[in-house]
Amino acid sequence: MGLGKQFALQLAAHGYSVVLVARGEQALHAVAAEIAERWGVSSEVLVADLLVEADRQKVLDRLVSDSTPIDVLVNNAGWGLSDSFHESTWSDEKNHHDIHVSIPLQLTHSVIPGMRQRGRGRVVVVSSVAAFLSRGAYSAAKRYWVTMATSLTAAYRRDNVSVTALCPGFTATEFHQRMGMDVTGVPRFAWLKADRVAKTALRQAFRGRAVSIPSLRYRALVALAPLIPARFHRLDGE
Ligand SMILES: NC(=O)c1ccc[n+]([C@@H]2O[C@H](COP(=O)([O-])OP(=O)(O)OC[C@H]3O[C@@H](n4cnc5c(N)ncnc54)[C@H](OP(=O)(O)O)[C@@H]3O)[C@@H](O)[C@H]2O)c1
Repeated sequence: MGLGKQFALQLAAHGYSVVLVARGEQALHAVAAEIAERWGVSSEVLVADLLVEADRQKVLDRLVSDSTPIDVLVNNAGWGLSDSFHESTWSDEKNHHDIHVSIPLQLTHSVIPGMRQRGRGRVVVVSSVAAFLSRGAYSAAKRYWVTMATSLTAAYRRDNVSVTALCPGFTATEFHQRMGMDVTGVPRFAWLKADRVAKTALRQAFRGRAVSIPSLRYRALVALAPLIPARFHRLDGE
């Protein structure tokens, strides 16, 4: 587990009880055990494949439960496609789009009314610095959340509800290994630590920031990106 685990640990450290969602049951229980040991609080483990409708419904049911309402939703699940657009299958493209766009949209849509009613709520969507580059479906999906977070945060500011698009650069997690990306050419200075990324994201989400780009080097990249031709927007040394 990568960023998701760091979000869970840091929310627990802030005193939140946490609902952990992923497919890997063992890993979820390991995080729940770590939280119990470090902060003495119990976590809920909800094993779910968000791409499976019945599993997703369990998550949606939990999100709208009135008895223990959700104050902070972190939409983190995601992966990158390893094949080029012309080589990928339609099913891969569809799942990729769903995990990065439709599913966080549905989960966010389910929590906003309750958050507005309670007069508080923070949603974080893990976007990417790729949102500001032209790297195909991944960039397009991540860009969607920069626009949505900006719009929704403006719309619900008076309700004390915000949506933050977190836009990290290369972060040391299992992400690149899972998609089979060769990262040997990525310089050391480019790597961010997952715990620092999650910490920055939560700090800025609690302040109601719509877009969070951790680290100066990636904010500089975002500022320069419009000047760089799209053919140079490859980050991974393919
Ligand atoms: N690492 C980076 O450099 C980087 C940079 C910018 C943005 N991001 C974004 O950060 C987010 C988190 O990625 P990461 O870097 O932490 O990678 P990671 O270590 O591979 O974690 C991905 C997480 O998504 C969960 N997941 C994947 N498919 C799922 C599904 N169908 N249902 C439920 N959970 C699912 C995984 O758990 P299970 O496999 O157990 O389900 C895992 O917890 C992604 O949205 C990614 O696009 C990453």
